[in-house]
Amino acid sequence: MDDDLAMLQEVAKVAIAHRAETLDAERTLVADYHTMLAAFARPTPERGAEGRAVIDELARLATPGIRATTGRRFFGWVIGGSDPTGVAADWLTSIWGQNAGNLVAAPAASAVEAVAAGWLLDLLRLPPTASIGFVTGATVANLVCLAAARGEVLRRVGWDVEADGLFGAPPAHVLIGADAHATVFTGLKCLGLGARRVTVVETDEVGRMRPAAFERALRTAPAGPTIAIAQAGQINTGASDPFAVLAPIAAAAGAWLHVDGAFGLWAQACPAFADQTAGVEAADSWAVDGHKWLQTPYDCGYAIVRDAEAHRRAMSITASYLPPAEGAERDPSAYVLELSRRARGFPTWAMIRRLGREGIAALIERSCRLAARVAAAIAAEPGAALVAPLALNQFMIRFGADAGDAAGDRLTLAVIRAVQDEAVAFVGGAEWRGRWVMRVSVTSAATTEAAADETADAMVRAWRRVRAAGV
Ligand SMILES: Cc1ncc(COP(=O)(O)O)c(C=O)c1O
Repeated sequence: MDDDLAMLQEVAKVAIAHRAETLDAERTLVADYHTMLAAFARPTPERGAEGRAVIDELARLATPGIRATTGRRFFGWVIGGSDPTGVAADWLTSIWGQNAGNLVAAPAASAVEAVAAGWLLDLLRLPPTASIGFVTGATVANLVCLAAARGEVLRRVGWDVEADGLFGAPPAHVLIGADAHATVFTGLKCLGLGARRVTVVETDEVGRMRPAAFERALRTAPAGPTIAIAQAGQINTGASDPFAVLAPIAAAAGAWLHVDGAFGLWAQACPAFADQTAGVEAADSWAVDGHKWLQTPYDCGYAIVRDAEAHRRAMSITASYLPPAEGAERDPSAYVLELSRRARGFPTWAMIRRLGREGIAALIERSCRLAARVAAAIAAEPGAALVAPLALNQFMIRFGADAGDAAGDRLTLAVIRAVQDEAVAFVGGAEWRGRWVMRVSVTSAATTEAAADETADAMVRAWRRVRAAGV
């Protein structure tokens, strides 16, 4: 046991050293998957080993393949910084080993979830009586919300999908924007709603559903149970659907309106950018992540449903050996897919307590201002162009903007590679309207003004190199 405790102390030192090194490092080139596979590949161990030796070996083998996603100059995908306070709360979560599945097994974890759920609704300015499930991330949050939606719209026409399944059920109709996130389709596939059965609603140049197209799609949809899926924060442009216009249209048609707000819903918590999500509180359900803008470590997301009863009908688990929640008690397993799971309320509580309402608003605002600063610096360079107007924290740049489609694709991909190779900052690419772009996401609390400027310089430098080489 003493050895185990000493190991925990030792691993804390290794962890702290890693954080210190990676804060400013996008400088070390990261070993790729195949190198890592070769490093880890061994026959199944026949005999055990000392815990300390195992952890030393894990750290030694993995370190070359750990990307500096917690560093100041990481701008790939939409990745939060895993703030040290959230990480410390997550360490305690692991140390405590609580199973957040029920009130008796995990009283503190259950209570913290109940309190953090109230804080989240307050910060995101959503109905205070809505229910929240603490899930792995927005992918599963979307699925959980859509399960509640499916159950409720079918219940309204007299069908109990939770009891009787989908075979023989009245068909449910789904509308979704043309620029929805790929992960929403996972939910549709799992729930028997079908990824191909949806009606795709036309979007504008930043990926927002066009209200006239939305209204037309609802009007011409087959009468009956309907779910409309909107989004706060398009992955490439950061733009949100015009909820203030869409929500009344959906309500008038009797459709359930779900919002995928993985990162963009946090605009609600920031007065300077709350106009982006105006009217979103009128929806029926919302998916949002903690591990993006709230900076909790992975994995942490929230499935939020206005009609808590519909949420519970879709998710509740009962068994004689599971203590039921009584009265006003919140059963932590009634809102998620899993029974046994990690106590995600702890890092959520810790990050909200750490930042407070003001700190969260300041963080969102700072991320968006830094995104604008980097975007302006790159777009000032001849041949580089911002692809769509900036809405929030995500933006796209195309290089060789006047070089023609195919040449522009080649140049843009070459710049992304050159930035990654120089390893001052990390950034990735995406296809937008059929053409390659460099996509930048400013989501980490670790990013400073200086880091943003160094990143812009690195991107301009990469573009000049590529242009001079005439790729
Ligand atoms: C708009 C949107 N929806 C859903 C997701 C999926 O979220 P997660 O990876 O946390 O499951 C993302 C991820 O970036 C996203 O940007």
